[in-house]
Amino acid sequence: MAAGWKSRRNSSHPCAAPVMGFSLCLITLHLLLSQCTAQWCYQRQFCDDSCKDPSRWETEFPRCGGLHQSPINIVTRNVHVNDNLPPLVFIGYTDIINITVENKGHSAHFALPPSVRLTGGALPGYYRAAQFHFHWGGNGRPGSEHTIDGERFPMELHIVHIKEPYNSLAEAQHDMAGIALLAFLFEETTDDHPHLDTVIAALGLVQNNGSTTVIPNFHLSDIIPPASDLHHYYRYVGSMTTPGCEHAVAWTVFHRTLPISSRQLDAIVKQCRFWTGLPMTDIYRPTQPLDGRIVYRTNSGTVQRRVLHMCIRIFLAVLFTLALTH
Ligand SMILES: *[C@@H]1O[C@H](CO)[C@@H](O)[C@H](O)[C@H]1NC(C)=O
Ligand SMILES: *[C@@H]1O[C@H](CO)[C@@H](O)[C@H](O)[C@H]1NC(C)=O
Ligand SMILES: [Zn+2]
Repeated sequence: MAAGWKSRRNSSHPCAAPVMGFSLCLITLHLLLSQCTAQWCYQRQFCDDSCKDPSRWETEFPRCGGLHQSPINIVTRNVHVNDNLPPLVFIGYTDIINITVENKGHSAHFALPPSVRLTGGALPGYYRAAQFHFHWGGNGRPGSEHTIDGERFPMELHIVHIKEPYNSLAEAQHDMAGIALLAFLFEETTDDHPHLDTVIAALGLVQNNGSTTVIPNFHLSDIIPPASDLHHYYRYVGSMTTPGCEHAVAWTVFHRTLPISSRQLDAIVKQCRFWTGLPMTDIYRPTQPLDGRIVYRTNSGTVQRRVLHMCIRIFLAVLFTLALTH
């Protein structure tokens, strides 16, 4: 034994092996720890002390503690009607596409090709779609991110678009309207959403962090209502709702909700797992302060009705003037 020890010591610089082993161990430990402290989680995720729940995201991602964050509670009686919010123009939404679905550890992303684009809606230019994803609750708990007059909806769909010519979130984040996010709230119905089962099946194939699958021949327009039903929406300026909380988002929250049955909700909530291995439930950020922001909504009156009202007002004014002058 003594001889073996001696020969090992003699084979290289004395102590080199043990010291290297020790520092390797330290480096590995440090990497493991820093990876964990850099991780963020959701409020109900119950991850251990080393990970950051939403109230502590800002310690690792400073922008999350900044002003004008998302999501928000929309108080309908405080919303300003804006006559200059035209309908959005959806480009490529009806195309047949293959989409890759990936479990990202905190949610599942459905990657969209750049042929899917968006403009109109008072947005300053054209935007390319990047991905869509959902926020949900768990076990009957609602899980939308935006709330309306304090009401949380069962689920919320986000379609993320990046302004042209930017190619990534990193490039777009310095532009106040670098990202256009479309939000659809789900409402529980007795009937199934007729086209959500392909999405549910895909989620069942990406149960663990990093796993991927492809949905062939997908139509984005199967998931959302026709454009003619999407003229009415709320608009405000905010941020991404996951770290780094980039403050560069023109938010559009549609009035029209999407249907989902309790069977479908149950199936969605039960399949995926977080990067921690625990069930992926309650994946939403708490609502953030308005910080003096104004939420706008489209004028719900039709153009014809507005023109009619204007004509009646002019007619009455003319009658009134005539009556006064005679
Ligand atoms: C989708 O994938 C299939 C099989 O790989 C391929 O044949 C088809 O051309 C793809 N469609 C599109 C629109 O990319
Ligand atoms: C989750 O998967 C991604 C790759 O898809 C990886 O970069 C990340 O480190 C994983 N997270 C954990 C905590 O395992
Ligand atoms: Zn989202």
